[in-house]
Amino acid sequence: MGVSVATAVGSGASLYYLNKNSAHANMEAEGLHPADHPFPQKNLFGTFDHASIRRGFQVFKEVCAACHSLDLIYWRNLVDVAYTEEEVREMAAEYEYEDGPNDVGEMFMRPGKLTDPIPRPYPNEEAARAANAGALPPDLSLITKARHGGVDYIYALLTGYCDPPAGVEIREGLNYNPYFPGGAIAMAQNLFDGVVEFEDGTENTASQIAKDVVTFLNWSAEPELDDRKKIGVKALLLFSTLTAISLWIKRNRWQTLKTRKVVFNPPKDWTNTPRKH
Ligand code: HEC
Repeated sequence: MGVSVATAVGSGASLYYLNKNSAHANMEAEGLHPADHPFPQKNLFGTFDHASIRRGFQVFKEVCAACHSLDLIYWRNLVDVAYTEEEVREMAAEYEYEDGPNDVGEMFMRPGKLTDPIPRPYPNEEAARAANAGALPPDLSLITKARHGGVDYIYALLTGYCDPPAGVEIREGLNYNPYFPGGAIAMAQNLFDGVVEFEDGTENTASQIAKDVVTFLNWSAEPELDDRKKIGVKALLLFSTLTAISLWIKRNRWQTLKTRKVVFNPPKDWTNTPRKH
């Protein structure tokens, strides 16, 4: 039994290791495996770096929002996460939203409010495809959950553009990126050193900008992560205390039974004693 369990665990572990660390002929089609980066939120008890979420939203707004929507995030979601309420109100008011009808039945434009969604770059899918040579820029709200490799993949994709290797032909309008399955992606490289100017003075190298926007996108996909981990720690403390107490009570309740000694002393001549009825 022990040997077979050990064999199963051992072969499972080595398969996992080989699968994770091997290079194989199909990599071109599947995309290169991204490196593992130490994002703090990936640790068991780690939470988001909120200064990074703030910088990341700036990157999203100034770069990605030209092509990508973020339909599941509303301005109010950013309050107390990366901005004060006042700051978010000001940012929202910079955009115009259609509202109405008014008392004469006409739609009108008004400045954005906390309850409005982050504006989309295109009114519909057809307009988005038409502006991107037929390719659809996906909505980024849940993208870190929607791609194998999550944050590491998105980071690798954004920073991984390079010249195609000898013999690989990339069609006009596509770009080579070894991390994208198939290698040819319609999105061109758009993160370069200095492309965003951070208000907090953080160095604006392409990798820093990519890290921040990836942290922001991870938050947009899992805004409950910080609370979930905080509750997790509390639950662990609470339930381990309760377990300890119930184990102690169980011992306490059972001690009379467990420490009882049952002794049977038959009389010496027991087998010869005539039965009394
Ligand atoms: C000029 C338009 C444009 C900009 C700006 C842009 N993208 Fe894209 N993006 C696209 C298009 C088009 C696709 C679809 C690519 C394809 O399917 O080949 C795409 C695809 C993606 C994907 C999905 C890749 C996959 O695995 O399917 C991610 C993630 C992404 N973009 C992130 C970003 C981020 C983050 C930014 C901002 C730093 C950004 N994009 C800026 C046009 C853009």
